[in-house]
Amino acid sequence: MKLFYLVALVAAVSGQLHPSRPARYQKLPSLRERARIQDVWRDERVSRIPSLLEKYNADAWLMSQREHAEDTIWWSIKNATDFGAHRRTILMFHRNTASLKGQPNPLIWIDNTGDVWPELRSILKAYDPNTIVLNTDRDIAFGSGLHVGELAVLEEQLGKQWMSRVTNEPHLSIEFVATRVDGQLHYYRKLQEIVWAMLEEGFSHRVIKPGLTTTEDLEWWFRERMQTLNVTTWNQPRISVIVESSFPGWEGTRNVIQEGDLLHIDYGITALGLNTDTQHMAYVLRTDPRMPENDAPESLKEGMKKSNRMQDIVLATMRPGLTGNEVLRLCLAQMEREGIEGQIFSHPIGDWGHDAGAVMGFTNLPKYVPVLGELTLLPDTYYSIELYAYHFVPERNETLRFRQEENAYWSKGTQSWRFVRGRQEKYHLIDGRERNTFIIQT
Ligand SMILES: *[C@@H]1O[C@H](CO)[C@@H](O)[C@H](O)[C@H]1NC(C)=O
Ligand SMILES: *[C@@H]1O[C@H](CO)[C@@H](O)[C@H](O)[C@H]1NC(C)=O
Ligand SMILES: *[C@@H]1O[C@H](CO)[C@@H](O)[C@H](O)[C@H]1NC(C)=O
Repeated sequence: MKLFYLVALVAAVSGQLHPSRPARYQKLPSLRERARIQDVWRDERVSRIPSLLEKYNADAWLMSQREHAEDTIWWSIKNATDFGAHRRTILMFHRNTASLKGQPNPLIWIDNTGDVWPELRSILKAYDPNTIVLNTDRDIAFGSGLHVGELAVLEEQLGKQWMSRVTNEPHLSIEFVATRVDGQLHYYRKLQEIVWAMLEEGFSHRVIKPGLTTTEDLEWWFRERMQTLNVTTWNQPRISVIVESSFPGWEGTRNVIQEGDLLHIDYGITALGLNTDTQHMAYVLRTDPRMPENDAPESLKEGMKKSNRMQDIVLATMRPGLTGNEVLRLCLAQMEREGIEGQIFSHPIGDWGHDAGAVMGFTNLPKYVPVLGELTLLPDTYYSIELYAYHFVPERNETLRFRQEENAYWSKGTQSWRFVRGRQEKYHLIDGRERNTFIIQT
């Protein structure tokens, strides 16, 4: 066990450091080109569905949905130029066996007259599937996208003959949604560099004027900046001054940013059907000429070192095939051996900011997560490594949570998880003495 940790930790740490050069804003392709790229990825992912059906012993996967009542899976299957589903859209994935050879996969019907039902019944008769997956899971959102009204209609239209063959298999949805294709990483790296470039600009004298700018001003600066970078988001940026009571997910207090503040952001961007989720910390330098600062205090740097160490432990411990809870337990045991206190709450990321698959901890479930923690980690997925370490800061006589989050991908070459752009090891510094201060218009 010891040797495994040593080898794994060294492998995990190399190449994971704070990037050595500042991030540069990346230009993404035009919307038209993005749509083309996304459809190529989608086609590659959808082409895996027949073998996923085989893996999960299913012959067909049926989705019935209406505009504004889409199945969750719709968003990972639709064309980039489609938005909501049209009318009633029925999709049936199959295994390309003899009776449906040469037919599209999925078969698609768009209907508002009821003509679809006799056609669907005759297809089912020809195909004669033994098991038909419907997304009716009670606990896993990605496997429960069939709306209750659509289920009632299916029961009526398919009757006992076919409804007796339906089954619930949420792992099919999870694996389809979570698994990435190789071509995505090149663009995910660009998104991560945009994320870092925004952090480096936003947490600097160019945007923050200590004593004037509020955390809320800065949140809206991030929102507006996204517009100019042609990306969107999946949640409101949350920026706060870290104090002893700060807890992940809580609304930050609405502070005017002051010298000596330890700042925190949790935010993500969306483009090309991909999402990011990042937490960094920043420090506002004190400029009193009697005791000017040029860097963050040592005590804060030590706090970040502890959360960096937790990141190493999580990446080295995550292995495809382990459950989220197994990884969590191993990580907590390793932290205990090293005398680190803190909490882990890491999750898959990709098509969604909180994507399908195994989670490791929740903020309110620090040691064991039912259902989502019992899933196994899949390779070829992306993960958001989200955690905090406690560290006592003597100058403040306070124990603070050092909160970090970075996104990682599964590297086939090294058979390990790696951060897409590295991870934060140095504070973003805001220096009010710098000229060229840009004041946010409120
Ligand atoms: C954003 O899109 C506009 C319109 O297509 C384009 O002119 C501009 O260069 C883009 N900006 C970035 C940073 O990609
Ligand atoms: C995507 O568009 C193509 C071409 O219009 C169409 O044949 C196909 O059914 C669409 N796919 C979905 C999932 O709607
Ligand atoms: C530090 O805080 C603790 C309570 O959290 C308090 O009991 C103690 O007196 C404080 N020490 C100093 C030096 O202020």
